[in-house]
Amino acid sequence: MTGRKKVTVVGAGNVGATCALEVARRDYADVVLVDIIPNFAAGKALDMNQMASVTGYEPAIVGSERYDETKGSDVVVITAGKPRSPGMSRDDLVTTNEAIVASVTKEVARRSPKAVIVVVSNPLDAMCHVAQAVSGFPKERVVGMAGILDTARFSAFIAWETGSSVKDVQAMVLGGHGDQMVPVVSATTVGGVPLEQLTTRGKISKMVERTRKGGGELVSLLGTSAWYAPGAAAAQMVDAICLDQKRVLPCTALLEGEYSVDGLYMGVPVRLGAGGVEEIVKLKLSAQEKKMVRESAAAVREVVGVLTTTS
Ligand code: LAC
Repeated sequence: MTGRKKVTVVGAGNVGATCALEVARRDYADVVLVDIIPNFAAGKALDMNQMASVTGYEPAIVGSERYDETKGSDVVVITAGKPRSPGMSRDDLVTTNEAIVASVTKEVARRSPKAVIVVVSNPLDAMCHVAQAVSGFPKERVVGMAGILDTARFSAFIAWETGSSVKDVQAMVLGGHGDQMVPVVSATTVGGVPLEQLTTRGKISKMVERTRKGGGELVSLLGTSAWYAPGAAAAQMVDAICLDQKRVLPCTALLEGEYSVDGLYMGVPVRLGAGGVEEIVKLKLSAQEKKMVRESAAAVREVVGVLTTTS
């Protein structure tokens, strides 16, 4: 045992390994990588430990097929599950990934009863319901990663379109992690200047559309889901929790009346700190954006309706 934070990442595939590496490189946590494929996580962990001397962090990554090493984690990131293949929507994965996420959650929750669970597996909003039901953790400690990724995509397009540094783009994508997600144009600025003053409506709608289909664009190029931006986005949430940063980030949280949505996990701005979701931040939306949130919630509800997991 060290005095460092402990972070478990379940699933050593592309997204999980990218997340584990990003976290390891921050050098504040011991990282445990778990995968059911024999030796796979151990191999990735060994490679990451050997990279440590080159880029300068402690070689404190363990890889295993078993969960015993995960005991007492502060944060558990769940990336396990099948990724999308071309032509598949995230929702097509629901039944397969429900069983995987349920069994993983059971294993990690009993070994790390105080952890914050960050769900990454798709279909994301529905998988958050599964992880919360199976773990029995309070809603604050089960949160999903989607909004940071969707916002990162929107921000990249805005930076290119306006010829600005992506560092100066402040954007926010809310709603479910599906084609009905809601890029909040009214809250999007570049260097403090509203996006609507910087480019035309037509160009904004094109960027909104490309963002909504952003995951699918990557799947058609790569033949599977993306991983660099998703892995880094999950690592940003791990940072906010482990370092108690109180960052306001778009994350998937259980709504109980907020944004006029009740009993559903969906993407909203949250204050993320040591306690997990410490606050759901209320953002004033335009009438059009409110309508889009309602439509996105209806789409999420349909997928959640397919689940068979109960608490
Ligand atoms: C994506 C997958 C990871 O949006 O949901 O790329």
